[in-house]
Amino acid sequence: MTSTNSVPRITLNDGNEIPQLGFGVFQVEPEKTADVVSSALEAGYRHLDTAAAYKNEKGVGDAIKASGIARDELFVTTKLWNANHKRAVEAFEESLEKLQLDHVDLYLIHWPLPMFDDYLEAWQGLIEIKESGRAKSIGVSNFLPEHLQKLFDNTDVVPAVNQIEIHPEFQQIELQQFSLQHGIEIEAWSPIASGQLSDRNDVKAIADKYGKTVAQVTLRWHLDEGRIIFPKSNNADRQKENFDILDFELTPEELEVFDALDRGEDGRIGANPATADFR
Ligand SMILES: NC(=O)c1ccc[n+]([C@@H]2O[C@H](COP(=O)([O-])OP(=O)(O)OC[C@H]3O[C@@H](n4cnc5c(N)ncnc54)[C@H](OP(=O)(O)O)[C@@H]3O)[C@@H](O)[C@H]2O)c1
Repeated sequence: MTSTNSVPRITLNDGNEIPQLGFGVFQVEPEKTADVVSSALEAGYRHLDTAAAYKNEKGVGDAIKASGIARDELFVTTKLWNANHKRAVEAFEESLEKLQLDHVDLYLIHWPLPMFDDYLEAWQGLIEIKESGRAKSIGVSNFLPEHLQKLFDNTDVVPAVNQIEIHPEFQQIELQQFSLQHGIEIEAWSPIASGQLSDRNDVKAIADKYGKTVAQVTLRWHLDEGRIIFPKSNNADRQKENFDILDFELTPEELEVFDALDRGEDGRIGANPATADFR
């Protein structure tokens, strides 16, 4: 079994470290969140990914408090919602209050919404928050190269991460490379495609070889390619399953099996950041 201590850590461009494997709480109902996160912490996860938009920051905070785990053993991420780009500091303080924490480890702009042209203002707010020490690291989510470029051109702070949709059928290779070339680590959201796992024989054969499930070898593919992941599950057994992926490694040939599953734009599940306009 995987232990908390064996989770690899990645050093971000600001010198802080992030556990490469965490737990996400998108679509976990607010009233169930404390229980779901408590069992994830029992399974060994120490990195939690939430967002103001998920409406469950309070449940995450309740579980942290109940766990008794030292704050410096946890890595907590939350995100600024799209309607709040012009009031990032206030929105951040609301998140901290719900989380019942005095700082987060990582604060992200959730989506750029380029049509409103205010993500640069949001980024300036995040820089101010980082300078205050209340977010140890800051980054972005769903940013395309042109959105990142605007931050590079107008500020001195490069995001620590870009959290983007990546799973075998939608890999965004160029966006990954652009981010990495600028020192930005990749966080893959929906790493197992929201549960739509591959039923291909070559993928099943890889799982069988290691005595693992398709979900586990898919998550392992992300780790072996250097991405940060935080699969979500409401189910304690699947939480354990998704955490139990540190006792094997895929070969270069096995990684290629996954690499070949990319369907480009046809594989996208979520919104396209170029056109997403939800606030
Ligand atoms: N920044 C963004 O815009 C953005 C967008 C989406 C997600 N995220 C983040 O990324 C995290 C992960 O993405 P996600 O929640 O969308 O999708 P995901 O982790 O790829 O998949 C979660 C789904 O797969 C099921 N599942 C979990 N483990 C499984 C297993 N071992 N076998 C079979 N099915 C399994 C879950 O059902 P059960 O719960 O019933 O197990 C759930 O329906 C989110 O929780 C959130 O933190 C960020």
